[in-house]
Amino acid sequence: MTMEITLTINEQAKNIVIEPNDLLIDVLRREGYASVKRGCDEGTCGACTIILNGRAVKSCILLAVQAHEGKITTIEGVGTREHPHPLQQAFVNEGAIQCGFCIPGLLLSAKALLDKNHSPTKDEVKLALDGNLCRCTGYSGQIKAVLNAAAIMRGDNK
Ligand code: FES
Ligand code: FES
Repeated sequence: MTMEITLTINEQAKNIVIEPNDLLIDVLRREGYASVKRGCDEGTCGACTIILNGRAVKSCILLAVQAHEGKITTIEGVGTREHPHPLQQAFVNEGAIQCGFCIPGLLLSAKALLDKNHSPTKDEVKLALDGNLCRCTGYSGQIKAVLNAAAIMRGDNK
């Protein structure tokens, strides 16, 4: 049995036919959002993080049907090569990326934080990134990058 759900992904409304037990990560990857990475498949690593209705969530532990009529952001919808989002630029500037596997999820957790809190403390950044594991870069540059991006977005560095 199949069913149809509606998702708005990166501002684009889509009707998608799914099986009732399809995971959201699988539907997003099937639809071409390859930035949504599969790591642990059990809600631990954060590689599959997306923003759903303003909250960073792990798409490997959500059924696609639970996102019906939801608004989703993947990293494909954040910045461009020519005009990166301040978070993306800050990660590059801080050297906070190595293999890149964890980065879409990390950036989206950080974006969900900064969308709500323009002046997070270091502890608030740490808490927001708590569910995103990075095996190769280490977290200090990533935390600094988020704080730097927040400052740039507030206009503090002008
Ligand atoms: S793949 Fe979803 S949290 Fe690891
Ligand atoms: S940059 Fe490789 S896992 Fe984070």
